[in-house]
Amino acid sequence: MSNFLSSSIGKKFLMSITGLFLVTFLFIHLSLNALLLVNDDGELFNAAAHFMATNPLIKIMEPILALGFIVHIIYASLLTLQNQKARGSDRYASGNSTPDVSWASKNMYILGATVLAFLIVHIAQFWVKFKITKELEPTHIDIAGVKTEVENAYFLVNKTFGILWVVIVYVIGSIGLAWHLSHGVWSAFQTLGWSNTLWRKRWEVIGTVIAWIFGIGFSAIAVLQYLFFQ
Ligand code: HEM
Repeated sequence: MSNFLSSSIGKKFLMSITGLFLVTFLFIHLSLNALLLVNDDGELFNAAAHFMATNPLIKIMEPILALGFIVHIIYASLLTLQNQKARGSDRYASGNSTPDVSWASKNMYILGATVLAFLIVHIAQFWVKFKITKELEPTHIDIAGVKTEVENAYFLVNKTFGILWVVIVYVIGSIGLAWHLSHGVWSAFQTLGWSNTLWRKRWEVIGTVIAWIFGIGFSAIAVLQYLFFQ
């Protein structure tokens, strides 16, 4: 097993599994964040945030999600170093001019690093304030007919998206994510062996659509919050 994980294909396998796991998280994350665009003073978003903060299954998933990110980043670094070593000085000769290979596929590490830089800002702005410094005010919402006290997650997110530079960082981060995934998703299916000549083309289309759903979706939430919800 340890031999497999230290081989090139083993590393790519782990990157594919963790990558697709992170994509699943992003679908849930985008769906819940879309509630920020409901015109109800954040009631639905607060109800969803309350459910996520109190559900035991979500609590179990949080460290697993963090582990997914860590493994993905460590193995991306190992593979990139290994590829650079293998190419030696050739990488300067072939470099970015290799035909028939997308810009994203040649720059996955840079795009991943852009997403990571965004993620550090994002975690500091939300997760740390939600979970560590606990900067959330209480509010009351109706849950199944019962007035319940919950944390006003909407107020913090809405206030954050009132700042132009934050919105710009979110748009850049989301476009970096979309670009990263436009290669990452189909490449993961290829590595896992669920691909042939016909399916490779299909995964490319499916991967690009998924990638831009995230890119446009996350950007739109930040931009629309800034423009119409302040
Ligand atoms: C409009 C864009 C986004 C909004 C409004 C948003 C909102 C939030 C909020 C409110 C939290 C804190 C949740 C909590 O601790 O209970 C959070 C956490 C998190 N976000 Fe985002 N997010 C956005 C985009 C993204 C993107 C693009 C990524 C990944 C590239 C991402 C990854 C994460 C991660 C890993 C966490 C910590 C895990 C968690 O608690 O769920 N988010 N986000």
